[in-house]
Amino acid sequence: MKTCREIADFREVIAGYRAAGESVALVPTMGYLHAGHMALVTRARELADRVVATIFVNPTQFGQAADLEQYPRNEAGDLQMLDQAGVDAVLLPSVKDIYPEGDQTIVETTRLANMLHGLVRPGHFRGVTTVVARLFNIATPDVAVFGEKDYQQLQVIRAMVRDLHFPVAIAAVPTVREADGLAMSSRNARLDPEDRAAATVLSRALSEAEVAVRDRPTASQLEDRIRAVVGACPRASDLAVDIVRAESLAPIEARIDGPAAIMLSARFGDVLLIDQRVVTP
Ligand code: PAF
Repeated sequence: MKTCREIADFREVIAGYRAAGESVALVPTMGYLHAGHMALVTRARELADRVVATIFVNPTQFGQAADLEQYPRNEAGDLQMLDQAGVDAVLLPSVKDIYPEGDQTIVETTRLANMLHGLVRPGHFRGVTTVVARLFNIATPDVAVFGEKDYQQLQVIRAMVRDLHFPVAIAAVPTVREADGLAMSSRNARLDPEDRAAATVLSRALSEAEVAVRDRPTASQLEDRIRAVVGACPRASDLAVDIVRAESLAPIEARIDGPAAIMLSARFGDVLLIDQRVVTP
């Protein structure tokens, strides 16, 4: 695996693939990799001749400086995992290379970024689209692979690609879970043992909702059901529940009559976790 720290080197490696007529899949990451990321790499390998990855803890998508500082990092471990998974090249850029001095350009999906989780984390999705647009321009991939766990992020990126005519296909990979159902996330490493055990309540609430939706409840009835499950767990706080149409993320006014995305976020200790599931009545 080629490890590049300079954007120019990474571009040169990719230009070599292109010259050989090979297609390229991109897996953008913020590092501290786990099996969920490896599922993205596996999918990327199915979709293109070459797989390239990026490891960049993107400062513009963190609201609080403390959250950014505490974000776990493990560069040596990450490189080993990517290499073993068959990634061809990885870029680990510096913040000043991605955001050059005097930088003044942002990319924002105005509607999708400022609803749901975007209201709880103002500026977060703007940071995501701004960095992903830059990474697309650097790597010029044919396809880029993202996890469904960050469901709103996935829809925001799809909207950006459509609106800005990026010649990139977006592939989505289902959430990878621990044996007890907890969605894999780099943030899980920051949970203390009690919070780690408690955090499974999110996936349990989603499983209950998946069954309950068969009775075609209204979105607010389903939300009450989820709140009752999560509310019974005293270690969960700041619960946010959004039940929206799966494709448009539009609100569901009456009974759930088609695919609905349930997006949850809750704090365990000081760690904000998210989980989601698309359910169909
Ligand atoms: O999902 C992530 O890890 C990040 O939001 C992404 C897409 C790599 C952008 O920084």
